[in-house]
Amino acid sequence: MIQSAAAALPPGVNEDESKVPPYTLPDPLICQDGAAVKDARVWREKRRPELLRTFETEMYGKTLLGRPSQMRWVTLEEKKDARGGRATRLRIAVLFDGRETGPRMELLVYLPLEAKGPAPVFLGLNFEGNYATTDEQDIPLPTHWLNNEAAAGVTNHLAVAAARGHESQRWQYDYALAHGYGVVTACYCEIDPDFHDGFTNGVHVLARPQGPGDWASIGAWAWGLSRALDVLETLPRVDAKRVIVMGHSRLGKTALWAGAQDERFAATISNDSGAGGAALSKRIFGERIENLNKNFPHWFCANYARYNGKEDECAFDQHELIALLAPRPVLINSATEDRWADPRGEFLAGVAAAPVYRLLGTDGIARQDWPPAGELVSSRISYFLRPGKHDVTLEDWKAYVAFADRQVKP
Ligand code: GCU
Repeated sequence: MIQSAAAALPPGVNEDESKVPPYTLPDPLICQDGAAVKDARVWREKRRPELLRTFETEMYGKTLLGRPSQMRWVTLEEKKDARGGRATRLRIAVLFDGRETGPRMELLVYLPLEAKGPAPVFLGLNFEGNYATTDEQDIPLPTHWLNNEAAAGVTNHLAVAAARGHESQRWQYDYALAHGYGVVTACYCEIDPDFHDGFTNGVHVLARPQGPGDWASIGAWAWGLSRALDVLETLPRVDAKRVIVMGHSRLGKTALWAGAQDERFAATISNDSGAGGAALSKRIFGERIENLNKNFPHWFCANYARYNGKEDECAFDQHELIALLAPRPVLINSATEDRWADPRGEFLAGVAAAPVYRLLGTDGIARQDWPPAGELVSSRISYFLRPGKHDVTLEDWKAYVAFADRQVKP
């Protein structure tokens, strides 16, 4: 995995704030034909669709599939006294084209037992498999392809018992449940394995990209989040109008793209999503477009490679992705030591998206200058900088819940 060891940065990568070049961000409220967006109607009918098309064509690729008419799901398990009696746990197999043998994902669902009504829910994909998000011994080992994770003993792309719970620190189920939230996850590798196979596996078997502007892996993962929401909409104990789509790192990029495309998501949380996620590309700080496209050629559509080394030629930047979430709440979560993801650039994207949020009648972002670590900037665009490394911790979950309590709960 490419990381930010200061001594060994790839060529052309800058992690020195004083070397950020002068740059001008495109104004999200100016249309491609030069017209200014002066009201919510023009934003909604003209500018938002054109920006969405830009991100589709130039970056993430067009999502080639909606909800397949044959899609169905099967509840594999409902356990009423999970997590020491705090939660109902469901495992739901989602068969994307209706076939047992076709592309699928398994949802792991936790719902708070003491909820007064339908519960708001955090929905996010996980890296290592559902069984790795929890120490519970009765979650079966998955059989789908997994990333190798030497530290957890996963070396043949297959789940091993020793990796049970390996990622559990990132999934603070009990904390969320205690605060009245459900949590739902699925493994992104089941929706589309995270390697470049020419798009012949995962959900791409149902709609293979044909051209350089068609979906790739981030598009497929984001699509999976929308299909999870289709299922959540049918569960009476879930408040489907309050589903917060979230994700860390590449899955934070994915959550932002899912939230931008699917307005049923009530709110979005980006955790350390960095380049190709919340961070501004034009700052040329930390990971660059070229690093993304060379190291992970299957994440974005082929057109995105046109901007390798040419951030200055990009007619869009990531603040406009955040603007596509407006007026819905968004939390941009960063970590101080995660320079590869440019935490300051993530904050500045929030600041530059705020005019759209204000046009749509919200408070935008409550702070213009980068806050110190540990202070939650609380507004429709919220921001939190956690001390420490690229990761998800209990402290991040505390910020998620504080954000959701203020911005999402009724
Ligand atoms: C790499 C990649 C990042 C990505 C991260 C992750 O570090 O360069 O863009 O966010 O992996 O997903 O863990």
